[in-house]
Amino acid sequence: MTAAASTNNMDSLEKSLCDFTGSTPLDQRFRSLFTIKGLAATSDQHMQRAISIISHAFSDDSALLKHELAYVLGQLEDSRALPTLKRILEDGDQDAMVRHEAAEAMGAISDPSVLLVLEQYRNDSDVSVRETCELAISKITFDNSDEGRALKASKASARLKQEQSGSHGVESAFAPIDPAPAMTSSASSKEAAKSEAEGQSYTADQVPLFQQTLLDTNLSLFERYRAMFALRNVAHGGGEGAVQAVLALAKGLKDGSALFRHEICFVFGELCHPASIPSMLMVLDDSTEHEMVRHEAAEALGGIVEEGEEDGKNGDGDFTKVLETLQKWAQDGEAPRVVRESCIVALDELKYNNDPTQFHRIEAPTAVAA
Ligand SMILES: [Fe+2]
Ligand SMILES: [Fe+2]
Repeated sequence: MTAAASTNNMDSLEKSLCDFTGSTPLDQRFRSLFTIKGLAATSDQHMQRAISIISHAFSDDSALLKHELAYVLGQLEDSRALPTLKRILEDGDQDAMVRHEAAEAMGAISDPSVLLVLEQYRNDSDVSVRETCELAISKITFDNSDEGRALKASKASARLKQEQSGSHGVESAFAPIDPAPAMTSSASSKEAAKSEAEGQSYTADQVPLFQQTLLDTNLSLFERYRAMFALRNVAHGGGEGAVQAVLALAKGLKDGSALFRHEICFVFGELCHPASIPSMLMVLDDSTEHEMVRHEAAEALGGIVEEGEEDGKNGDGDFTKVLETLQKWAQDGEAPRVVRESCIVALDELKYNNDPTQFHRIEAPTAVAA
């Protein structure tokens, strides 16, 4: 694409994303957002433009869309997005889910200059915002520690190797930035960082240790999140280890923290593993569950691929049930708006992922916000 063509493209994407009249369907606006995110990486000019368009889109009234905007700003990993994110976190009129995502995005950008504001909102009236600020502070502190710097350096060299060889490891160069780095079981943090960055160190025999850490409520949320992403990495390896890791993660859905439960659902959305379908259906069907958790379960179900295409363990029955459950909540006038809208977006994604005329699955399973 020429520079002029991509600038024109940005103009039309802005029109779609920032259509506040309601005439552009939500799923189309989500697609525009993901395309803007992709274009942002192509030049500094596009990055600046993307940040400005996305910041403008916060004038919308959909919490679902706005939490996604905050997520994407974090994933762009550019400090120029911080003023917008700070404004959203400080705005008590914004939905808690959007403010939570803004705090998490500040953690993703990992600039120590935001530590003060995050400290301040560690006392927020909303528990999810408080917990997210705590996590973001821990992440920024970790990233700036010796261990964090060693991990970053190892990831950069692994990425370079991948680029040179044209291959991609488990932790690909374009993997999303997690709210906490995956825990390792190695005694030497330097060694662990090296092998983790190369995506080699996660195996089924580590599941009991990671599960124990995940479920230990005496540990900090950050340590428990680290175990969650370690289990995610085990599951990425596939096979029987993946099933064990998914079942271990599902045990976390009984935790007292809605933030913690929503993150488990997000991880299931990244994995799209058939073994997670029953628990995701249960979460979405539970009208007493926190809307943020149900939203994440709906989006996770949107990434499910029909039988035979991946691990081949979800039968036709499962797929039909996913479809019916998403349709039911998409149309339920009593359901919270964010749940309904998530089901609409998930149905669109489901249709796209299972369309044989599409060559590639949509980026959304790894792109959507937790
Ligand atoms: Fe989230
Ligand atoms: Fe989300």
